[in-house]
Amino acid sequence: MKNIYVTKPFLPPLEEYTALLKEIWESKTLTNNGPFNKKFELKLARYLGVEHVSLVNNATTGLMIALKALQINRDVITTPFSFIATSHVVKWNGLNPIFVDTDNSTGNLLVDEIEKKICGKTGGILATHNFGLPGCLTKMDNLSKKYNLSLIYDAAPAIGVKINGESVLKFGDISVISFHATKVLNTFEGGAIITKSKKIKKKVDLIKNFGIKNEEKVTSLGINGKMSEINSAMGLLQLKYLDKIINERKKIYDIYRDRLKKSKNIQIMEIPRNIDYNYAYFFLLFNEGKNKRDKIYEALKIKKINCRKYWYPLITEHPMYINANLKNAKHLSEKILALPIYPFLEAYTQNVIIETINGSLS
Ligand SMILES: Cc1ncc(COP(=O)(O)O)c(C=O)c1O
Repeated sequence: MKNIYVTKPFLPPLEEYTALLKEIWESKTLTNNGPFNKKFELKLARYLGVEHVSLVNNATTGLMIALKALQINRDVITTPFSFIATSHVVKWNGLNPIFVDTDNSTGNLLVDEIEKKICGKTGGILATHNFGLPGCLTKMDNLSKKYNLSLIYDAAPAIGVKINGESVLKFGDISVISFHATKVLNTFEGGAIITKSKKIKKKVDLIKNFGIKNEEKVTSLGINGKMSEINSAMGLLQLKYLDKIINERKKIYDIYRDRLKKSKNIQIMEIPRNIDYNYAYFFLLFNEGKNKRDKIYEALKIKKINCRKYWYPLITEHPMYINANLKNAKHLSEKILALPIYPFLEAYTQNVIIETINGSLS
């Protein structure tokens, strides 16, 4: 059996992509807000039902730009339970990350814990929608308004996720999604910055293009955060297939949910009733803790099935970050295991995964 990973990129039919490449070859416009970039930006905004989208070359640059566009220049309250980029961008921008504990089912930040940490040195909040699942969005919005703090969501995996019928990307001042190869919609590498403010969109567009206003004027500090035409063309094609991709992922999710043994020793990922999910992840929580989780991880690895312990270790367990004692996040990171989920995961492979896990549960 070949190696199986936690995800596998969806790729559209090659001939559809080469037809778009031909257009790029003919136009000789390779980047700098070209026609595919413009079209993908508009179509994505329409698909998501959001006001403004700015495409970027990856979500990490997107988050760095978001912090600059909102002029956050003091401490940033953030999460220990995420991909390392979430706090790297804070440090990279010369700011101090202040870590706060999370809930114990999705690992999203606890609003009351954030409030306890807010002080004169606080400049903003950088939260996540872990696994694409949102936390208490209204409470977060109210908190940011109460203290006049900017709120950014690292919404890397949250494309297509809705709460009460509305995109989760509508919350906060800025949301950033990723189109990395591992994501539900990929542009090889890529990302997008979403905001409801025209003024913020303008700032973002300036910063992602070196701060260049026109041929003779540079009006702000900037970076190269642009998405190229080949990535944008890929995005346009992927968008055409996105509902189908999500539907195929749902089929895999349903099989796990229905066939994994119900046991007091595991919790199966719950999707709240008011959420339309994109099935980016399927995770289990092993109530017996790290030893049990790691045993199952190893048992599957021997069979060439590579699950992921998202997010273990915590960000605060890496040497460049202060080791805060955040109990819920720590506990969650030691019992979580993400299983392979992607369109057309072979039935045979999924069966091996389910049988291996069921066989190990009492
Ligand atoms: C939660 C989270 N934040 C940030 C990123 C970084 O995204 P990108 O690879 O597009 O820079 C990822 C991507 O993998 C992620 O999962």
